[in-house]
Amino acid sequence: MTKKKILITGGAGFIGSHLADALLERGHFVRALDNLAPEVHGREAARPAHLDARVELIVGDVRDGAAVDRALDGIDAVVHLAAAVGVGRSMYEVERCTSINNLGTAVLMDRLVRRPVERLVVASSMSVYGEGLYVDPTGAAREVPGRTLEQLRRAEWDPRSNGQRLEPTATPETKTARLDSVYALSKYDQERMCLVVGRAHGIPTVALRLFNVFGPGQARSSPYSGVLADIALQVIGGRAPLVHEDGEQRRDFVSVRDVARAFCLALESERAAGAAINVGSGAWRTLAQVGRRVAKLVGRPHLSPALSGTYRVGEPRHCYPDTRRAESVLGYRATVDFDVALVELARWLGARRRAASAHDDGRLDAGGTRGSIAALDHIQGSVPAALSNLEGSHVQ
Ligand SMILES: NC(=O)c1ccc[n+]([C@@H]2O[C@H](COP(=O)([O-])OP(=O)(O)OC[C@H]3O[C@@H](n4cnc5c(N)ncnc54)[C@H](O)[C@@H]3O)[C@@H](O)[C@H]2O)c1
Repeated sequence: MTKKKILITGGAGFIGSHLADALLERGHFVRALDNLAPEVHGREAARPAHLDARVELIVGDVRDGAAVDRALDGIDAVVHLAAAVGVGRSMYEVERCTSINNLGTAVLMDRLVRRPVERLVVASSMSVYGEGLYVDPTGAAREVPGRTLEQLRRAEWDPRSNGQRLEPTATPETKTARLDSVYALSKYDQERMCLVVGRAHGIPTVALRLFNVFGPGQARSSPYSGVLADIALQVIGGRAPLVHEDGEQRRDFVSVRDVARAFCLALESERAAGAAINVGSGAWRTLAQVGRRVAKLVGRPHLSPALSGTYRVGEPRHCYPDTRRAESVLGYRATVDFDVALVELARWLGARRRAASAHDDGRLDAGGTRGSIAALDHIQGSVPAALSNLEGSHVQ
């Protein structure tokens, strides 16, 4: 791709700042439109330190048409990430979520209709699937509703169909959307609105359905990767990580560096226009496996996950992506090793732990962790040194 001027809405956030790094590395000019939302950036709402100094930041709301016009000036391509992220909150702050996500996207699209760009890429989400896809004993695909409260109370974790046991399988983009929260509804709305308006007005548009993105800078409250941070913080604090249900839930945790690369490819790929594409690591893990891996990584392998039997209503039992479309259309394959990405997260947590007493800006930190931080000290060195804890071990 020749050097372009790229606007990232929500560009000061977790994924946005990593994407900005990747785009700058490729020689592009990057502008971010971000209102520095206090729930993400803290009350001070200052330019975040993790945002590269070369990024031109326009502090403004994506629902403000004049701010969007300013942000679009001279821009070749747009990545739309600005959103209120949070499943639970979306269920009691319906207007707020709908306003930022749905209306915000509508304002952006109105502006783009008048001032089209070469390419638009929007962040959609695994949450549009609800439960992942299953197969029955004959091998036939089965789409199932979310589990009821009664099922969860009876600890019937796995969905069944007519009493039959179902096996989870990778979820393709063709699975019917099942919108179980206002947040999921809004992500689907963002995705469809961008694709529909983009097609009508000749703006090649791509929607990336992101799975559980993790890495330095992530929010602890993230519905996607918060669980990973919780596990890490508990282990660092000397406690066995508490895992919901029986710990056998399957997820696909993908490094934010891989996700940033997927966005770069989506900005370039001719064939991707008009498509919704899953983006994950291509490998599922259970939460119990992840708990064991983190414990081993920080040198506390005896802290095996405590299976709480508790649950969160509305959470899918299993959801992980079929990534074949990303491979064939974008040429995307995750390349960041899971263990390396875990070390990157743990090291960042350690740094945050040290800074936590001075700065509590609402982002993820280990401030609530009373345990010794000695567990973190040895992973502040080189990545290979940190990984030595895992040598000879298998993910199980
Ligand atoms: N993190 C994940 O695992 C994940 C998974 C699936 C989809 N997504 C989607 O990816 C996108 C980025 O997520 P993230 O994890 O980086 O979240 P984030 O909260 O770190 O970043 C979102 C950014 O948007 C900004 N913002 C919020 N409201 C705004 C508004 N009205 N105007 C302008 N800016 C506004 C925030 O200040 C923040 O910097 C979101 O659209 C999210 O739905 C994330």
